[in-house]
Amino acid sequence: MCGIVAIAVSERREDLGVILTEALKRLEYRGYDSVGVAVVDSGVLRVAKNVGAVDAVAKLEGFARLSGSVGIGHTRWATHGAPTRENAHPHVDCGMRVAVAHNGIIENYSELKEMLRSRGHVFASETDTEVVPHLVEELKSSGADTYSAFKRAISMLRGAFAIVAVDAGHPRRIFFARKVSPLIVGLGDGVVLVSSDIVSILPFTNRAVVLNDDEVGYAEPGLVFVEALGGGPADLSSRVVQVEYAAEDFGKGPYEHYMLKEIYEQPHSLAQTLSGLVSAKEEVERAARVLGESDNVYVVGAGSSYHASLVGALYFRYLGLRAYAFVASEASVYLRGVGEGDAVVAVSQSGETIDTLLAVRESVRRGARVVALVNNPLSTIAREAGTYVYLRSGPEISVAATKTFTSQVAALVYLGTVLAKDGSHTSRVLEALRRLPEVTASVIESSEGAARSLARRMSSAQSAYYLGRAFGYPISAEGALKIKEVAYVHAEAYPAGESKHGPISLVVREFPVFFTVVGELDELVEGNVEEMKARGAYVVTVLPRDRVTPVLERNSDAMISLPRVSLEVSLVTYVIPYQLLAYYTAVERGLNPDRPRNLAKTVTVF
Ligand code: M6R
Repeated sequence: MCGIVAIAVSERREDLGVILTEALKRLEYRGYDSVGVAVVDSGVLRVAKNVGAVDAVAKLEGFARLSGSVGIGHTRWATHGAPTRENAHPHVDCGMRVAVAHNGIIENYSELKEMLRSRGHVFASETDTEVVPHLVEELKSSGADTYSAFKRAISMLRGAFAIVAVDAGHPRRIFFARKVSPLIVGLGDGVVLVSSDIVSILPFTNRAVVLNDDEVGYAEPGLVFVEALGGGPADLSSRVVQVEYAAEDFGKGPYEHYMLKEIYEQPHSLAQTLSGLVSAKEEVERAARVLGESDNVYVVGAGSSYHASLVGALYFRYLGLRAYAFVASEASVYLRGVGEGDAVVAVSQSGETIDTLLAVRESVRRGARVVALVNNPLSTIAREAGTYVYLRSGPEISVAATKTFTSQVAALVYLGTVLAKDGSHTSRVLEALRRLPEVTASVIESSEGAARSLARRMSSAQSAYYLGRAFGYPISAEGALKIKEVAYVHAEAYPAGESKHGPISLVVREFPVFFTVVGELDELVEGNVEEMKARGAYVVTVLPRDRVTPVLERNSDAMISLPRVSLEVSLVTYVIPYQLLAYYTAVERGLNPDRPRNLAKTVTVF
């Protein structure tokens, strides 16, 4: 949700604008409403920005002509103010000396704006961000140096934010502050970077410091100063981490879109997830112990991570645990009564989703033990949970989660299996999971043709139902979310048995209804399939080959029959046909599946 980056180099660079453009391209998945950069060159601040994608704006506004030794950049996901040129970041003060880029929300911006207006400041945008450069300017006008003014300005802001700033009087200095929204400082040779995501730092260095909440500071090549707001300077010597990703992991390879690449990567990402779980034996056993010893296990996440949570909670129940799943954004209600004897599993690809982070904080406050499942070990959720399990899915760039969803489900199943008391169950499942990468490849292969041909039909559909019972429901919900997000087809998932209690009234001839047949209560799905067919629905069933019955065959207009596998392996893999269907439907509709409208990959505002 907005990507920010700042870079300072020891020697002036003619290509600073090009470097910022490249960094912004890596952050584009965080927001693509508008793009902008600001550089300081020979004591002059220059700003270029506009509405649109990074490449287009960079070309239009001549980013390549910008040189200097320090600069900031921003990709925007609009919160305050429409996506217009005026509202694009960076924002500047009246004197054109200070430029600021920001991710998050400044809650008290209206009152600050009013105060600054009364002091003669003129605003050019509707954003909350613009108060920051004016505030710094105002505080500097009474004699403060830039850092003191910046620090004081930050202490006056309420909300959740990450901010970077430059001042025309400081040719190599980046000012930064973090409150809730993530911010990382990358330490390179003759270069220092500050960014909301490690992805934009990696081409320069894999050494980084993750800032804590309420930290503020400044950086120049070879110098980083950080302090806690209201506290003393931080000792960074023990906080430098080495990041595992290689810069090449971020490319699209031979694929047209990241989404397709990430779907196809699943045999590999799942192999990585599993080998990571095996090698992190201690953490995994600790996490399993926490769950096994708890009175109740609550599994919490948002979006796709919530769907993975639903699969996980149901699987834990299947193993005899008292487990429940709920959406992170409602945690404050669902966590009432949760206490020391309980465990909370927080599922989050990014590890930065604000709703999930707040659920983690509330759980910790209540004394519950928290296990996080994240794809970013540097993330806030990983750092604040008592125990975390690293998914190792590799970077996921497409806004729609695909490979991280299957890794989350695999990790939840694995955790359940490790804590299961029945030794023969454990060894049977572990044995089955060993074949997961190979089965995944075969599920992709078995689904590809059907997904392409169904996509042609779905490209003209208005709506669809995705139905399943028990485990089939969360997998259907994830399928419906995918096609909704990337292809803009209105799709709703229901527990199949609920379809008769209202939803069926929408079904007319050719209305698409997808059924996921996986595991428990499968025999009851047959009745639902017959009911839908009787009303003229276009029925598609996704099921294991050995579950094809005469009733299903007779009543299905299309079938995606998948390899016969154990329940656990099907929980991970049966979403894949839906991922492919969503992808190809988006392509059929001429949409870019990597950039669904209105969405950002990491949601860091409430
Ligand atoms: O990073 P997280 O897993 O916490 O993100 C949660 C959701 O925002 C995310 O799954 C979202 O629903 C994706 N767009 C799904 O494709």
